[in-house]
Amino acid sequence: MKNSVHSVYIHIPFCDKICSYCDFIKVFYNEKYIEEYLLALEEEINNNYNGEKIETIYIGGGTPTSLKISELKKLFNILKIFKLNDNYEFTVECNIESLTKEKLDLLKKNNVNRLSIGIQTFNEKNLKYLNRFHTKEEVFAKIKYAKDIGFNNINIDLIYALKNETLDDLKKDIDLFLELDINHISTYSLIIEPHTKLYIYNENNIDDDLDYEMYKYICKKLKENNFIHYEISNFSKRGFESKHNLTYWNNLQYYGFGLGASGFINNIRYTNTKNMNKYLNKKFIKK
Ligand SMILES: C[S@@+](CC[C@H](N)C(=O)[O-])C[C@H]1O[C@@H](n2cnc3c(N)ncnc32)[C@H](O)[C@@H]1O
Ligand code: SF4
Repeated sequence: MKNSVHSVYIHIPFCDKICSYCDFIKVFYNEKYIEEYLLALEEEINNNYNGEKIETIYIGGGTPTSLKISELKKLFNILKIFKLNDNYEFTVECNIESLTKEKLDLLKKNNVNRLSIGIQTFNEKNLKYLNRFHTKEEVFAKIKYAKDIGFNNINIDLIYALKNETLDDLKKDIDLFLELDINHISTYSLIIEPHTKLYIYNENNIDDDLDYEMYKYICKKLKENNFIHYEISNFSKRGFESKHNLTYWNNLQYYGFGLGASGFINNIRYTNTKNMNKYLNKKFIKK
């Protein structure tokens, strides 16, 4: 069991726009690159996957749902190679703006059974600060549609402790998150990372005491609403803990495919190149 491979992480590094706080590995969506990227990804997977039965697949980003339907179809074709265990968990990271009904139908048809949706906040001023743009109506309608077609395992991400955010603002966000009636919530206190727009504009974090007060409020309110605080940033209803997160926490082995992805195979940790040109030229591992 110790040497078996538990999970697969696939990185899709494209985004329709770049958020002010984000230091993940991503580039602007550019149709020109996608075909080449998917070809390189296919080669990397086919050359390295050894046919193990996999418990969890996680497609992260970037924004996997920034790909067009035809591109997503190509991606799912590539992923057909993976043999899945009966109780598999297959997550796709989505953001609201690019998540259409057609894409949700396609994810469902291709065995995805968990969505992780970046919402961050409903507060208009804070959305602008983060350079994200969705409306409350859009979020509620898309999550309702996802549930209607059978997605019953949904995570949403919250970011708190933003400049000028008050405890009252956070309370309103948490109330709306709870109203969405999903079974997993990830919460992150904003980190101003180097090289991001917020860092360049010299933005500051909020006061530590308020940050801590917000964290305590989140823990208390989610507990009152039957969420289990099973990891530092993660809360879920019983039985809906992310199996993929637990791969990392329990030091289990996993493949990491795609630009900048990390893996842990044959008890060796590796990280792929973060350089798009090198990746497209199939020089996958960082040297
Ligand atoms: C891989 S990221 C983004 C997924 C998806 N592209 C999106 O934006 O919705 C996963 C989550 O990490 C959190 N995050 C990213 N950068 C952060 C930062 N600088 N500080 C705090 N949380 C951050 C956000 O909640 C984000 O949804
Ligand atoms: S937060 Fe998500 S959508 Fe925004 S730039 Fe980062 S990966 Fe892209």
